[in-house]
This record gives sequence, C-alpha cells and structure tokens, in this order.
Amino acid sequence: MGASKPDGWPGILHREGRTLCRLPRDPGEAGPGPAAKGQGVVFHNPAVAGSRTRSVLLLQYCIEAGLLGNSTIYALDGLSASGLRARRWLNELPPKSASRINATMGDMDSAALDWAMLCHDEFPPEHGEGVLLPQLGDLRKSVLEHGRHWVDIDPYGTPLPFLDTAVQSLARRGVIEVSATDSAALTGSSKSALLRRYGARVKTDGLAHDSGLRVLLASLSRTASRHERSVTPLLSVWDSHHLRVSALVRRGVEGANRIEENLGWRVSAPTGSEVAASIAAGLHPDTSLDSEWLPMHCFLPLNHPIDRSDGRVSGPLWTGALGDAGAMASMTEERVIEMCGPVFDEDDELQWTERDCEMERRGVLRSVRHISGEAEVIDAPHLILVDDLASWLGSGSPVSPTVMVESLREQGHRAAVSRYGKPAFRTDAPWETIVSAADI
Ligand SMILES: C[S@@+](CC[C@H](N)C(=O)[O-])C[C@H]1O[C@@H](n2cnc3c(N)ncnc32)[C@H](O)[C@@H]1O
Repeated sequence: MGASKPDGWPGILHREGRTLCRLPRDPGEAGPGPAAKGQGVVFHNPAVAGSRTRSVLLLQYCIEAGLLGNSTIYALDGLSASGLRARRWLNELPPKSASRINATMGDMDSAALDWAMLCHDEFPPEHGEGVLLPQLGDLRKSVLEHGRHWVDIDPYGTPLPFLDTAVQSLARRGVIEVSATDSAALTGSSKSALLRRYGARVKTDGLAHDSGLRVLLASLSRTASRHERSVTPLLSVWDSHHLRVSALVRRGVEGANRIEENLGWRVSAPTGSEVAASIAAGLHPDTSLDSEWLPMHCFLPLNHPIDRSDGRVSGPLWTGALGDAGAMASMTEERVIEMCGPVFDEDDELQWTERDCEMERRGVLRSVRHISGEAEVIDAPHLILVDDLASWLGSGSPVSPTVMVESLREQGHRAAVSRYGKPAFRTDAPWETIVSAADI
C-alpha cells in the first residue's frame, strides 16, 4: 500500500538541484525562509538549498575517500520534512555510489513522510539506484533502532536534544551533519541561551559566527567523547540564518580521551602575554611581540587561566581545523555542476527554459563558493575580516581579501579568501606580515 495523500497534495512542482519534488506552496513566491505555520503541511526552506547541495557532495567525497567502508551505507535524514535532502542524495549521486545507499527519512509527522514518499514514488532516482524508506517517530528514540554510517540532524532551533542518541547510533566510523538555527544563541546575542545550552560565552564581534561554529563543534566533540568517540570536522559553514557542522566520528577510547586537545578559548585584543601563551601552545604563528601592533585575536588552550567575566573571551570552543582539506577541495565548481546542476531538456516536466536551468545552476555554484579554495588554509589560526583589520590599524579603506591573499602567498605563506559571510581571508602568516601586507 502506498503513502496516503496528505492535505495540500499534490501542491506545486518544484526542482532543487537536479531533483524534482512537490511542495505545498511555491518557494519562489513566498520568498526565502521557512513557511509560517499554517502555510502548508510540510516544512520546506528554500534558503537551505545550498546545505542540501553540499550534503550530496560531501557524501560522494566520503564514499570516494573510502571513509564509509565498501558495502551498504545506511544513511538517515533524521528530521526530513519534505524528504528532499535524502531524495537528492539518491538522485544526484552517481549511480555507483547511489546503489550503495540505504536511506531512511525520519520525521514525527506522518503527513511529512507521506508527502516525501509520494514525491519519491512520482520522481524516483533517474538512474533507479538506491533504497529509500520512511521512519515515523521521535528521532531521539527512533535513531537507536538501527546503526548508521551517516546521520543528518536538521532541527528547528538547537540540535542538542538529538546529539546524544545520534552519536550513539553511528557505526565505528560514521559521519554526522548537524544544523543549528539558534544562531542568536551560538553567536552570543542571546547570552543566557548560549550559556544554558552550550555552556559557553561568545563575544558578539565580527568573528561571532566563526566562534558559533566552534562552540557547536565543541558540543559535538564533548558528546562524542562521552560515548568513547572522537570527531574530525569535515566542513563547517555559516549560511544565512543557520550554522552547520559536518564531522567524521570514530569510535575509540584513546581519541575520546584527547577531547581537550582541540578545545580552548578565543580572545579578542589579546595582551602580549596571551599571544605568547598562544604561540607556545601551537595555536598561533610565531609572531614578533615587539611590534607596534598585536593581533586582533588569538586562541588559548583550555588550561589557560581565564576570567569568565572578561568580555574579550569566547568559549570554550573548538580551536582545531574547521574542516578537512580533502573534503573541502572536492567541492569545486566543476563537480557541483556535474552532479547537481540541472540540464536543459525540451521535454522537461517543469517546462524549464535554458534560462531557468541557468538560474538554478548559479544557485548551485553559490553553494560551494570559496570552499575548495579555502581548503588548504582551513586549519590556519587567522580568520581576518578586512574591515576589522582596517579599523584596527586605523589605515582607512580596507584592502580586499584577494589582494591580501596574493600578497601573503607571494611571501611564501598559506592564504585564501574565506567562505565566511563577511569579506575575509584565512592565513597562517605571522601577524607582522599581515600588518605590512595591509599597508599597501
Ligand atoms: C527544520 S525541519 C527539517 C527540514 C529538512 N531537513 C529539510 O532539509 O528541508 C524539522 C522537521 O523535524 C520534525 N521533527 C521535529 N521534532 C522531531 C522529533 N523529535 N522527532 C522526529 N521529527 C521531528 C518536524 O516535523 C519537521 O518536519
């Protein structure tokens, strides 16, 4: 027996990436952002299209890199709503990869699952590969019914209620992708919610979203260590209203015991002795402390004495790399178009013109902008906002991130324009070199 027809079915036909679906309302007419209550039975947020596209690419990278073994991959789109994320995995992965996927869409809303399965029945993967199943129930319980290699948590608000059981459900080696829309908490605007939920403080400066991603990773790594696992970040992205981290999780007590090695603090306007402590802990490039200018920020290790009432300090947060160089380097423009870009077809069911296809391809390209370029510096300690740098140095108008990157590379340092939502670059260059490069 097929899924029953939920209210609003069949809604309107829609395409995201290469995948067709039906939605209760036209996302184009409603503008970006989620539907308000009562606008349709099934939640769909067009602003998260980029996150779904990156999810397809990351899954393909992990398969190619052999991170998910070489047999069936059990994958869970834990809070699936319209089911578009899991359906895009199956439809947009190359057939050889898709044939290994046994995907489950989980939701506590039976209408959402009916909707998703009706879409799957009407628009199955073009290559016919892969398995897709619905699972009704509260994810906090249902996630433990089966071991998984891949778990996606994309909740309303904070993901914290789902993390413990999701981590426990992972195979010896698995990937967890976690979204958080409680960005006001994670970026320090809602101080009490941040402290209550994540046990952290974040300075609301230009780096607040980077700090928020690091606080989320710290929570994930603490959860993993409680269950004798450790995490290696694969990708961390701030995108419009949400923060999202993806990480490889490995079982093993030894790795779990090293939990504190990647946790610490971020200090803004550090003193000379704080910068010296950061250098000594391997968290900052060797930098002259005699120069006129000290760095705008530095990391400190978790065991550094901290005055928690000091408004300059953010943390505890993840001080290690925010992503994996290989995973990020795989997210090229060529790859995303090849896998996720729609191809014009005269017999298209949606009757898309060449121009419609081109518009969607542009959106797909935007979802990976700067990611592969940033891969080689994702472990670098400096994320520098060029506007902040100009104000810090009192040097008038900011130098563009591209010009800064060229100059630092010419001097033999690693540097790249950042994906971060404000004009910025990452580099491992010493601070005095950055200062002189800004003085162009
Ligand atoms: C933000 S939406 C998910 C969006 C979706 N992942 C996407 O890419 O469009 C959250 C979904 O989680 C479901 N949900 C909320 N709490 C849940 C729980 N405890 N267990 C299972 N599903 C839940 C809601 O019904 C809703 O469909």
